[in-house]
Amino acid sequence: MSNSRQHDDLLFAPELTDVPASQPVHAAWKVLVVDDEPSVHEITALALKNFEFDGRQIGFLHAYSGMEARALLDAHPDIALALVDVVMEHEHAGLDLVRHIRETLKNHLVRIVLRTGQPGQAPERNVIRDYDINDYKEKVELTAQKLYSTVFTSLRSYRDLAALDANRRGLEHVIRASGAIFRISDLGSFINGVLEQMVALLYLGKNSIYLECDTVAVENQMNRIAVVASTGCYAGHVGKNPDECLDAECLELVREVLRNKRSMLRKNTYIGYFQPRPGREDVVLVNSTRALTTDDEKLIELFLHNVSIAYENALLRDDIEGTQRDMVYMLGEAIETRSHETGQHVRRVAEYCRLIARGIGLSEREAEILHTAAPLHDFGKIGIPDHILHKPGKLNEEEWTIMKSHARLGEEMLSRSGREILQAGAILAGQHHERWDGTGYPKGLKGEDIHIFGRIGSVADVFDALAGRRSYKEPWSIERIMAYFEQEKGKQFDPRLVEWVQANQSAMVGVLWAFPDDATLVQTIVQQALTH
Ligand code: C2E
Ligand code: SIN
Ligand code: SIN
Ligand code: SIN
Ligand code: FE
Ligand code: FE
Repeated sequence: MSNSRQHDDLLFAPELTDVPASQPVHAAWKVLVVDDEPSVHEITALALKNFEFDGRQIGFLHAYSGMEARALLDAHPDIALALVDVVMEHEHAGLDLVRHIRETLKNHLVRIVLRTGQPGQAPERNVIRDYDINDYKEKVELTAQKLYSTVFTSLRSYRDLAALDANRRGLEHVIRASGAIFRISDLGSFINGVLEQMVALLYLGKNSIYLECDTVAVENQMNRIAVVASTGCYAGHVGKNPDECLDAECLELVREVLRNKRSMLRKNTYIGYFQPRPGREDVVLVNSTRALTTDDEKLIELFLHNVSIAYENALLRDDIEGTQRDMVYMLGEAIETRSHETGQHVRRVAEYCRLIARGIGLSEREAEILHTAAPLHDFGKIGIPDHILHKPGKLNEEEWTIMKSHARLGEEMLSRSGREILQAGAILAGQHHERWDGTGYPKGLKGEDIHIFGRIGSVADVFDALAGRRSYKEPWSIERIMAYFEQEKGKQFDPRLVEWVQANQSAMVGVLWAFPDDATLVQTIVQQALTH
């Protein structure tokens, strides 16, 4: 077959049916043509003039050398297909470009078709395999029809790969978010991951939005509805009111769904309605780049059903954690009651711990865990005989040895559980009597070898023990307490924590005020604090 006939075929490519005028215009598939011969660009564009795949046409990008192509690939990471000439500015310009795409840019999504004008320039078979080249064609064999089907197949494979990739990223997001759900308020980021995944599953565009509202708001007015998650063009609207980010048409659809309490499908838009629990209604709006089918609708509903199960689980988990917290408190209170310390001691220690943890910049989750676990710091006192625990005066040496064992005892008992809160409790129990200078007990740990929970626990416990009454001591004044902390800075206590307490004395005293043991005692201390 002759070269020229092939060219004729390309030049007089048959007219393809026009895109129906009713069809909305969507983002085009970006196709990069790399060839040093301008005529190849013209011919390619002509042959694919009316091309369409999955409701989207082609947008061409033109490069006349390998270097130009690199610049375009950098600027357009979403190029779907590159048609690459092998020989350009030098013999291997095309192959170098391919290597650059896969190895340097690490772009494994873009589909690559190599075209060469010179038969015999075919790359090694392993190049085609290793660089994931979709097709290798000699220009002479690439008729309009063959080009059309090559591009079609490549775009289909790009679409599926891109969806898989988006799906993987969505899943990663979900997994990360699931790990981060410590409080229900983090659910927004979980739902965001779910949305991304759904969008990818359906080959939808990137525009979707998730609205949250409660029943009261819906019946009265729109302004109690808030966006809790969003993707694509709606991204960045979390926390806003829908009328700030939705157009009038979408807003009306959302209102209609809330009125009818039923999901709706309108061409390219699906608006899902969910009632995850009484008193709460959720709306999911999905804007697609193509008309949605009832199959899509079923898939979306199935998907969101799974999401609401995950949501229920998160609620349940929150409830379980709440119950755990209550149990930890009750346990802590039982310990303190047994030690004849008043019940509020554990609550206050928990509060100081959280204040200090937040103050020195631990994460919110760490601060919460420490807060929850703090009441367990003296768990080991359960094993200390009454006559020692309740001795009105000073302990003798033997009694003191037994008393000190409460730290190791508590740690041993609590570390049997793998639960995060009880693990934190074990650290606190085992380390709250360690000293910064290494002379504490039970292990004589020093400085930062003492877990930050242990260091904070020590400051909190001693602050409260000094402020309170014990069988063996009277309450101290706030001046005396602060003088003691100054004296023990860098000795008993982590100096950084002492500095925080010194700078935030009123917050510490505020805890005594909020959880008093006995009104007169606290009044005395607060009074003292106010007059200084
Ligand atoms: P606790 O009463 O909860 O006291 C916790 C920590 O606060 C003490 O840990 C100590 O670091 C500090 N603290 C409490 N009162 C004073 C005080 O009057 N002066 C100073 N400088 N620090 C004080 P520590 O010393 O390791 O004691 C652990 C636990 O052993 C105490 O817990 C308490 O239950 C018991 N304990 C300690 N000393 C005596 C005592 O003299 N008599 C009796 N009956 N029990 C004692
Ligand atoms: C596409 O159809 O645009 C690729 C799939 C995706 O990224 O969602
Ligand atoms: C939520 O309620 O926030 C998500 C679960 C659902 O889709 O109903
Ligand atoms: C639990 O122990 O199950 C709750 C604590 C946590 O894992 O965050
Ligand atoms: Fe203790
Ligand atoms: Fe204590």
